[in-house]
Amino acid sequence: MNKLNTFREAVNPESLCNQACAAADDASALLAAALKPTATYSQVTLALEAILALTAKGLAGDAAAYAQYQSLLLELHIPGDARTEPTRRWMASQVYRMEDEFAPALSDFSALPVDQFREKVDAEIAARTRVKHPMSVHLFQGSPPLEDVRFFLQHHWNRSYNFYSLLAELAFRFEAIEDASVFYRNLYGEAGAEAPDRSHPALLSHLMTYFDIPLQVDFPALHPLEKAYLNNRIRCVRHTDVAWGLALLYAVESVSCVNHRRIYELLQRLGVPEEPSEFHRLHGTQDEIDTEEMWELIAKLAPSATFQRQFMQSLTRHFEINRAYFDMLWQQMQEQSGQPA
Ligand SMILES: [Fe+2]
Repeated sequence: MNKLNTFREAVNPESLCNQACAAADDASALLAAALKPTATYSQVTLALEAILALTAKGLAGDAAAYAQYQSLLLELHIPGDARTEPTRRWMASQVYRMEDEFAPALSDFSALPVDQFREKVDAEIAARTRVKHPMSVHLFQGSPPLEDVRFFLQHHWNRSYNFYSLLAELAFRFEAIEDASVFYRNLYGEAGAEAPDRSHPALLSHLMTYFDIPLQVDFPALHPLEKAYLNNRIRCVRHTDVAWGLALLYAVESVSCVNHRRIYELLQRLGVPEEPSEFHRLHGTQDEIDTEEMWELIAKLAPSATFQRQFMQSLTRHFEINRAYFDMLWQQMQEQSGQPA
């Protein structure tokens, strides 16, 4: 059984506080001290050691430690005092190394010619589609109550509002401008081209306002599995090996159009006006990134067996976390509607 499933089955908010809480409180206090601009090197390393100990324990199956390590990693990831940015990035990079150590070996990996590698990647993405997830069936094929749609959209905002920052991070990983430009061209569209009020976060915010959803995300209050989902996206695009980020963005992008179109159709059925629906109308009719152009970049690197292995590891990890995250949202949605989970 993989570690994420172990965690998903074990996690229970009421049982999260056991002896690991003491270590987590310590780690939290040590991190607060380490992120003061005046922190000494030894304060930073002390905090890092505490976080790494929680990470190892969490990835070995301890649910409370897993929740705490995801909280602390998210604290390192979300924007904070600019003076501590290099410290936060370095500490996070050490957590990624620990995560790499715990990454399960791929059971049936073998390097393939590039065209066959793409077939395998596309088949894996198609097999892991969210379309058949019970929450998707409920939302897109059923008659969901408005509170369920609102709940879904609130989490959609948590995931999507700063998508542009993932593109910017991955662009930095490429030295050659012709490679990086795949992402810069997209960033131009994300930023609204010549009209900042048409940036994609601005367009999506109109929908949030329509549904009375706050734009400020309360990060500490998020469920550990949502934190894990957000952390993994940031980890992948910051990873020094670009296979991690390319796999993540390719997986997200190749299903983006279909997923957004289904949400747009749902908004249409609910009679949501054009302006708040525009984000989904746009994204449901065009790819965020041209996936063919992105594949060309992947294909340049794909002859390497190491690249292919890391790409598949990244895909596997993304889908495992994604599945656990969507299962959690579905459970919460049913609980808030008073239906059995
Ligand atoms: Fe977008």
